[in-house]
Amino acid sequence: MLDLLLPPPVDPLWDLTEAYGADPRPERLDLVVGVYRDHTGATPVMSAVRQAEIRLAERSLSKEYRGLSGNTAFNRAMLAMVLGESGPAGRAVAVQTVAGSGALRLLADLICRTRPGTTVWISDPAYVNHRPIMEAAGLAVRTYRWQDAEGRFDSAGMLADLAGAGRDDVVLLQGCCHNPTGVDPAPRDWGAVAELAVRRGWVPFVDLAYHGLGDGLDADLAPTRLLADRVPEMLVAVSCSKNFGLYSDRTGCAMVLGTSAQALRHAETALQNAARTLYSMPPEHGAAVVTTVLEDAGLRAEWRAELDAMRGRIAANRTALAARLTELGRPVEAEVLAQQKGMFSMLPLTPGHMQELRARFAIYGTVAGRINIAGLPADRVSCLARGIAGVLDGAAG
Ligand SMILES: Cc1ncc(COP(=O)(O)O)c(C=O)c1O
Repeated sequence: MLDLLLPPPVDPLWDLTEAYGADPRPERLDLVVGVYRDHTGATPVMSAVRQAEIRLAERSLSKEYRGLSGNTAFNRAMLAMVLGESGPAGRAVAVQTVAGSGALRLLADLICRTRPGTTVWISDPAYVNHRPIMEAAGLAVRTYRWQDAEGRFDSAGMLADLAGAGRDDVVLLQGCCHNPTGVDPAPRDWGAVAELAVRRGWVPFVDLAYHGLGDGLDADLAPTRLLADRVPEMLVAVSCSKNFGLYSDRTGCAMVLGTSAQALRHAETALQNAARTLYSMPPEHGAAVVTTVLEDAGLRAEWRAELDAMRGRIAANRTALAARLTELGRPVEAEVLAQQKGMFSMLPLTPGHMQELRARFAIYGTVAGRINIAGLPADRVSCLARGIAGVLDGAAG
């Protein structure tokens, strides 16, 4: 049977990570995979998370099966965090998922169960897994513009494209810190998106993976809350991977907002049924940790402070990189980079430049030019700036 398999396509990100692993140069710099690193280059367990884990270990809770919706206290805490304590209570249901990716897939399944073959609009460029996850669930994919030629958010282009989406369509929007570009709509642009969604009748599907790492937790969640206030129906996929540092604990949540209690009950059952056929129940540990943190005022405040510190470090990296690029005679590129947000930056470089950056400077970003600015050690900022300026100048760095 297995002889029939064609060679599967190689994942370009893991390909680069492997090449990095095999690179013998001591100065090599890995900015490919999206994980936060502190100034020592480590991806630490957050202190609030560690304390929650100790409390959970001491309580030694049973590992009995949970229900298909996972940890219901976690689901309540996530609804309150994302939509706000005074958010649309009674208008939303949530189901714990296998991280943000699991939430994207369950919600895509829900769409397919509701209306097979629905078109989901994704940004161009998009998070590398958006199209494959939507297509694997059986949905059709179309794209809307995100950036203009200068690399800034293309409000007019996006709105013009989304004016073509209709009542039967779903529009997948990254709620903050867009991956891969780091370019986000301004608050007035989000207002226009909400207005268009109401007018055209399409359903917003918000993907939240980096809330807290852009302008702060509440500011990053403001567009999602604005949409929730304005539209009758909405889907939200939430990841706890980055902002709780729970990457390998696979913790996340799928939310559905609707207008009738019956529709919400049906949506929750459809999500549970989708989970049953994919993996049955999500893992408990990360959800228990997040719940412990969010339900305890002290741990919650500590987590918020740690998240703010991570955000500050990322912003400082970005500002320092822009300053060095300006010093090296690249003010236009520096300005574009300085305006980006979140863990990623899109360098104004071609795939050829990115290849040269690897070959000449041992700096690894994606072929499309994305770098994990949150993975950049502060003492390597100058080296990255020299590399960027070097490949742009075509001169030795
Ligand atoms: C935009 C976006 N959505 C969702 C995810 C999924 O994250 P996870 O499945 O690790 O929670 C990611 C991860 O990189 C992402 O960048």
